[in-house]
Amino acid sequence: MDKHEVAFNDLIAQDLKIEPRDWMPEKYRKNLIRQVSQHAHSEIIGMQPEGNWLLRAPSLRAKQVLLAKIQDEAGHGLYLYSVAETLGISRQELVQQLHEGKAKYSSIFNYPTLTWADMGAVGWLVDGAAIVNQVSLQRTSYGPYARSMVRICKEESFHQRQGFEIMVQMAKGTPEQKEMAQDALNRFWEPSLMMFGPHDADSAHSSQSMKWKIKRESNDYLRQKFIDRTVPQIEFLGLTVPDANCKWNEETGHYDHSPFNWDEFWNVVEGNGPCNAERLEHHKKAQSDNAWVREAAYAYAQKTDISAVA
Ligand code: ACO
Repeated sequence: MDKHEVAFNDLIAQDLKIEPRDWMPEKYRKNLIRQVSQHAHSEIIGMQPEGNWLLRAPSLRAKQVLLAKIQDEAGHGLYLYSVAETLGISRQELVQQLHEGKAKYSSIFNYPTLTWADMGAVGWLVDGAAIVNQVSLQRTSYGPYARSMVRICKEESFHQRQGFEIMVQMAKGTPEQKEMAQDALNRFWEPSLMMFGPHDADSAHSSQSMKWKIKRESNDYLRQKFIDRTVPQIEFLGLTVPDANCKWNEETGHYDHSPFNWDEFWNVVEGNGPCNAERLEHHKKAQSDNAWVREAAYAYAQKTDISAVA
């Protein structure tokens, strides 16, 4: 082991941060780019299912709040692309990998948002699951990634409340509204639980990522934490958990759940979910429609010598 590797291992063992200029194993760098880019793409693609309801929000207030939330997601994507760039990959390469299907984004954003209640379910469940995962990532070993998570988690917390507020309004509203809330919960429950990734035994990256402290908690641990936290909220709403086997287990101190449909998960991850093609097409079209904005910004930066923009 050379002195660089010893110094790297020492930083990890002491729970200190690895910074962009520090030496790091090539596999650590590549693994981080993979995870951070998947995370960044998820934030950006995740704007689409909610953008679908922006022009149909039921009140001006609801529209303002949803707009603010979607703008936050754009900001998260930009921080995370910047984090990936500190690892030596360009924004253009990251976007190209997304467009070529080489970089993934979260499976959850390949489901359609059919009713206004889905805006509630997405904020409450999807952002709620994201927080549970991202709070643990505040302690990840790569400094810029860990620091970006602090602000992102604060904003995700507002998103989770925005979603829960919609669910309360719907679940305590008319019978039709309550039915819409239950329907949204039924469709988003299992896909939200799958956001945490495959079971630990099937997780290709977990073992190495935990050793390097890129990941601080396992997929199954975080999924269970989310279930245990969310079932009482479902009860508060007067809705039904869409899983007959989801019952409190005195012995384990956790809620049990049915096995998940992993075939569906892998099918979505491999690009065959209900909205995969639509999401990527939309992103490609936005990139090409807005190319002139990037070109203009670049030309202006050159003219005024703002080297940071290049
Ligand atoms: N959707 C799509 N792909 C997934 C998902 C998912 N929900 N979960 C796992 N995968 C992929 C992994 O990327 C990996 O594929 P790859 O080798 O081609 O990259 C494969 O399935 C095996 O999974 P794991 O070995 O468990 O992968 P990993 O250790 O990276 O754990 C996890 C997955 C938990 C998502 C991790 O990457 C992570 O914490 N990422 C940061 C958080 C994040 O990306 N959140 C996205 C949604 S949050 C939001 O609000 C936008």
